[in-house]
Amino acid sequence: MTKKIMFGAFMALLMTSCYNGNSNDKVTSSPSFDEVLTSRRSVRNYDASKKITEAEVRDLIKAAQEAPSWANQQPTKYYVAISEEKLAAVQDMVGGNKERIKNAPVLIVSTFERGKSGFFQGNQTNEVGDGWGAYDNGLSNCYLILKARAMGFDTLIMGMREADKLRELFAIPEGETIMAVIALGYRAEEPNRPERKNLDEIVKFF
Ligand SMILES: Cc1cc2nc3c(=O)[nH]c(=O)nc-3n(C[C@H](O)[C@H](O)[C@H](O)COP(=O)(O)O)c2cc1C
Repeated sequence: MTKKIMFGAFMALLMTSCYNGNSNDKVTSSPSFDEVLTSRRSVRNYDASKKITEAEVRDLIKAAQEAPSWANQQPTKYYVAISEEKLAAVQDMVGGNKERIKNAPVLIVSTFERGKSGFFQGNQTNEVGDGWGAYDNGLSNCYLILKARAMGFDTLIMGMREADKLRELFAIPEGETIMAVIALGYRAEEPNRPERKNLDEIVKFF
């Protein structure tokens, strides 16, 4: 009996220290940076019962704004589907990804303004041209997905998407290149870690 009471007290203490008691049972203590890196995975099955608020998405985008960009051009823009109507519409614009993200409560379209990063006074600075805009967009999105993981969320970056339809849906200006759609939500199952190449295949020291 005493053992039972002690076990109960231990569990109660554990719950109070790890959970904030809201409906999503979010862990309040921050994971370490390494935990964020290793636990982030592309998630292709989301928990339909867990929602994400506009305020939480704003926190993610604020984090993305901390990313570096060419001459601080900040060419990345975000279009966020969070209403039932817009979510349903975007689900039909991600091709074969539809099934994977059907329960994600937020879908974020990321774009970059062309002619900013990699340009000086309207002229391309080097051979990469608007590739630097795509580079900066990737950096912003990287900050966003890592911040998402740190907040207990999961993501799926999708390159398979229908840019023309998304442009029309969100009235995205022609001067912006549409890059990834990012699904945001809570994992419904533990994802696998796809194998990485051997380090020596991707690095050479001189
Ligand atoms: C630019 C980009 C586009 C991607 N497009 C898709 C996609 O359309 N559908 C999908 O299921 N995964 C997509 N992925 C996820 C990758 O398949 C995934 O990152 C990779 O397999 C490594 O797995 P991990 O993210 O779990 O580490 C994309 C990832 C990136 C960075």
